Amino acid sequence: MHAPRQGVAGADVVSPRSSGRTRLITIRGLDKTFGGSTIYKDFSLDLPQGRFISIFGPNGCGKSTLINMISGLAPMDAGEVLYDGQTIQETRISYVFQNYREALFPWLRAIDNIHYPLKVMGVPAAERRARVDNLLAEFEVKIDLNAYPYTLSGGQQQTVSILRALVTSPEVLFLDEPFSALDYEMTLFMREQLQKIFMKTRTTMLLVSHDLEEAIQLADKVLLLTRRPTRVAEIVDVDLAWPRTAAVTTSERFTGLKRHCLDVFWRQVKGE
Ligand SMILES: Nc1ncnc2c1ncn2[C@@H]1O[C@H](COP(=O)(O)OP(=O)(O)O)[C@@H](O)[C@H]1O
Ligand SMILES: [Mg+2]
Repeated sequence: MHAPRQGVAGADVVSPRSSGRTRLITIRGLDKTFGGSTIYKDFSLDLPQGRFISIFGPNGCGKSTLINMISGLAPMDAGEVLYDGQTIQETRISYVFQNYREALFPWLRAIDNIHYPLKVMGVPAAERRARVDNLLAEFEVKIDLNAYPYTLSGGQQQTVSILRALVTSPEVLFLDEPFSALDYEMTLFMREQLQKIFMKTRTTMLLVSHDLEEAIQLADKVLLLTRRPTRVAEIVDVDLAWPRTAAVTTSERFTGLKRHCLDVFWRQVKGE
């Protein structure tokens, strides 16, 4: 976890709900066009840190573009993004890509993929081993980490990707449709895994999902986006207790939330 900042008790990181002050991600005046097509125009938004936020919206509305810009992977045309007042460069950010097959280094064993970000940061080998051991102990990983990625299943590879993203103790973790290439059973399992990670670390999570059920099941808040030029259609609070098992998705409360999100979504798709 990051060192406590002025006015922020260390406990805030573990339990943001107990904080007297909400740490925010502030997005201000964001503009983005691609070849004359406006994706974002003067887009502003506050999001709470220490929460799990899902992003859902019409295909091509700019979900990936949004998280790529606010994670610093892609340039904005204009605008500012601050994490509790700090710039993107001053914030520890990690990113889990949709396509785990291209995201892991095939020439490195799983364990060396996990070590890699620390190596790039210049962390000495002994400390690196200690940090990776701690991480693996915390999440009871049951994967042969001496294996090369291609010998692992899709779910195992994506687990390795997530561990690699977590090894730097990020303040914010971005995930762009991380489970969309997995089969349904593995997807359900990975949703459970990700929840465990969130409940343990309370790392701010920003998850793009094209699966509304997944978006709701995992989130404190679902950010619903409009068609382009993209605005916030609604931010829906999901006040369900953690952990959310697969069974919760059939509860009355859940289906009510899903119906509401779908209504907003269809109004956007039809342009009403
Ligand atoms: N690098 C790029 N160059 C040109 N157009 C792009 C680029 N990235 C995304 N786009 C376009 O911007 C729009 C939003 O893309 P994207 O953020 O990937 O949508 P989503 O993730 O919501 O499906 C799409 O029309 C896409 O074709
Ligand atoms: Mg996308």
